[in-house]
Amino acid sequence: MKIKAVVFDAYGTLFDVYSIQVLADSLYPGQGADIAVKWRDKQIEYTRLITQSDPHNAAGSQYFRPFWELTQLSLTYTLDRLHLSHQEGQVEQLMDQYAKLKAFPENLAVLEKIKEQGLTTAILSNGSMDMLTSAVKSAGMKNVLDHVISVDPIRLFKTSPESYGLVQKTLPVNKDEVLFVSSNAWDALGATWFGFQTHWVNRQGLPFEALTPQPTFTGSDLNSVLVSLDHFKYQKN
Ligand code: LAC
Repeated sequence: MKIKAVVFDAYGTLFDVYSIQVLADSLYPGQGADIAVKWRDKQIEYTRLITQSDPHNAAGSQYFRPFWELTQLSLTYTLDRLHLSHQEGQVEQLMDQYAKLKAFPENLAVLEKIKEQGLTTAILSNGSMDMLTSAVKSAGMKNVLDHVISVDPIRLFKTSPESYGLVQKTLPVNKDEVLFVSSNAWDALGATWFGFQTHWVNRQGLPFEALTPQPTFTGSDLNSVLVSLDHFKYQKN
């Protein structure tokens, strides 16, 4: 077995969605962590609600809204739910920061090492193309990512099979030649069900989902992806 492409989830995996809690805490003292978690959970819940309800055919997608809009709607929902006022530009400030989220510190060097091995690198994300472009640029990752794939054109979010299928629409690879990397356990599971080799970056020391199967590999930060790739290098075909 050989890996030809390493495909990364964006939010939570390359870009630190919880780094937003520092700004949230300065706007709403003592509430930053709660806002960051509730915001993220609601954002993902909306993607699932929409994709589950939209018919998966060409005539479908009547409920689809770009991830950027869902991110803003889930933020206002979260602030309302916590009874926090947002009349003074707080939503704009938080969204502005979301457009330039911090990358995890080890990421750039790991991406460079993967490129040095001659592998193709890509992002596959629910994120809208414009927000992905902005995040990739501000993280200085433009030169180490060969492709940035958004679900925008098919208007179906992960974990739909159609969304993971975008990788093979972009790259000439078999499913099992893709190592899909995500920090989100649900995404690692969806990608495993789809048929990719998977690597779960368990940054928060969480248990994996109670559903099976387990991802092919697990590690605690992005450096562990290099260890997984070594595994394929030394495997006999
Ligand atoms: C992504 C989010 C959902 O697809 O993590 O990038």
